[in-house]
Amino acid sequence: MLAGKKILLAVCGSIAAYKTAFFVRLLVKEGAEVKVIMTESAKDFITPLTLATLSKHPVHSDYFDEKSGEWHNHVELGMWADLILIAPLSANTLGKMANGICDNLLLATYLSAKCPVMVAPAMDLDMYQHPTTQQNLKKLQSFGNEVIEARDGELASGLSGQGRMAEPEELLEIIKKKFANSEALKGKKILITSGPTFEAIDPVRFIGNHSSGKMGTAIADAFRNAGAEIIMVSGPAAHLPNHGKVIKVNSALEMLNEVKGHYDNSDVAVFSAAVSDYRPENPAKEKIKKKEDTLQVNLVKNPDIAAEMGKKKKKQFHVGFALETNNEAVNAKEKLKKKNFDLIVLNSLNDQGAGFKQDTNKVTFFDKDNNEQSFELKSKVEVAQDIVNYVIEKLK
Ligand code: C5P
Repeated sequence: MLAGKKILLAVCGSIAAYKTAFFVRLLVKEGAEVKVIMTESAKDFITPLTLATLSKHPVHSDYFDEKSGEWHNHVELGMWADLILIAPLSANTLGKMANGICDNLLLATYLSAKCPVMVAPAMDLDMYQHPTTQQNLKKLQSFGNEVIEARDGELASGLSGQGRMAEPEELLEIIKKKFANSEALKGKKILITSGPTFEAIDPVRFIGNHSSGKMGTAIADAFRNAGAEIIMVSGPAAHLPNHGKVIKVNSALEMLNEVKGHYDNSDVAVFSAAVSDYRPENPAKEKIKKKEDTLQVNLVKNPDIAAEMGKKKKKQFHVGFALETNNEAVNAKEKLKKKNFDLIVLNSLNDQGAGFKQDTNKVTFFDKDNNEQSFELKSKVEVAQDIVNYVIEKLK
């Protein structure tokens, strides 16, 4: 089942590190190729010799070998892996990952990795419940990392509660499932629009919106995890995928142009960009000077990218979004038809935790066969997974 799969196991300093010996054995038995990175404090709990022997590869901890001077390239390690699993993940490494700190080989590898990253935290129950820990875990999820929640049970401290790392057998099952899903959309090309558009008023000002690109990036990550090839056309967004082909644009017209160029080759098109409906008719060539008390900027309608592609649609499966404040379901269904979407994802600004810049979203799916499905408030990463699961079913 895991034959030929390259798994990079990163071990932090937690008592649960002792379980990684069993876990490495299970992975190797399943045919996986396993390399191990350890933090310095992980070595207090289990020896590198044990994990090197079981994984059949030298264990990496430092950037270079002090004796031979051999350089351990973190970029190469990250590129080598099909999957990075950080297990056990300590509160310390979690805090560093959530904040971009890079003071050891494990963190440098994490930062440069392009493959999916999963983490299995392990710590005492109060540490696990601490708002910082919970916030940091949410942050990792917002980066597209998958969190394997700590389990309930007896802890090394003698206390009992949530904090135990998932057992090796359980981790193995999760990884197997992950790899099975990772082939579901193999060979499929997914075109995604994301982020806001900026429409120039003059060389320094623009009309824009609050879209952060979080949802589009989560969608790109979820499709990548299902084995698909990503082409993203994004406006100026704070969040972009670190994989696939990412084309950066500013305006709706530029976005349309790039979408047209990549559309024919795509199998699925996801329109998650918050495209400005209007643009200044004649952007000024020079910065507009402050003169009169009022200023008129004439706006003209932008093309509707989703609707234009909807007219061209042949084999493609189209997913669109609707952000509504009133008459939500009726408006969403109308848009589904008008723009020739196969699925429309409604998020209502009336729902707390949904919308721009948030890490969470509360959505309802409407599809062209009149099916309707409402979801509870979830992280954008989970919403993205629901969308991808839906597409996988439909493309079967
Ligand atoms: O009509 P409305 O802007 O609410 O429709 C939202 C959907 O249409 C989203 O999927 C969005 O990405 C897409 N859209 C587009 N081009 C526009 C406006 C919206 O692709 N100019």
